[in-house]
Amino acid sequence: MQACNLQNLPENYTLKYYLYHALTWPQLSYVAEEDGKIVGYILAKMEEDVTDGDEPHGHVTSISVLRSYRRLGLAKRLMIQSQEAMATVYKASYVSLHVRKSNRAALGLYRDTLGFTQKDTEKGYYADGEDAYAMRLSLKHFA
Ligand code: ACO
Repeated sequence: MQACNLQNLPENYTLKYYLYHALTWPQLSYVAEEDGKIVGYILAKMEEDVTDGDEPHGHVTSISVLRSYRRLGLAKRLMIQSQEAMATVYKASYVSLHVRKSNRAALGLYRDTLGFTQKDTEKGYYADGEDAYAMRLSLKHFA
């Protein structure tokens, strides 16, 4: 997963952070593999800082698919598998994520294919100063 992440995204994580996800919410992260090689992953969790009045919800930390395996529906399948587990195992009422404003492919996946809506814009969210869209999708249909 880490190799895939390093190839695809500037937001990288320590081994400890991957293990924290896997040990704490083992049902929420998945990989796509071909012949034993990981070609895509979703790293996801339940949100830990739930403020008063907010409902339990999942959060996609990171998702990516290697370039030569894109547009095959892998990311869509990884997202849906994780969302289903968030709703059924952890009773999440929605899923949230952050995405770069300029990330056309991811926005196509989240907004057009999966039905996420934009909740907010977070100015300068990324280390290089780019803004993020904070997006979310209701998981009530899995209940
Ligand atoms: N342009 C426009 N729409 C796109 C694109 C694109 N390049 N790629 C996917 N989509 C949309 C389409 O609607 C597509 O449906 P269609 O193929 O029937 O038209 C739909 O998303 C589903 O596509 P998938 O095949 O499931 O997506 P894929 O497996 O190619 O992965 C991903 C999409 C993860 C965004 C991939 O392009 C990638 O790894 N990009 C680099 C890493 C990245 O940006 N990750 C997201 C960061 S945000 C975060 O992690 C929370």
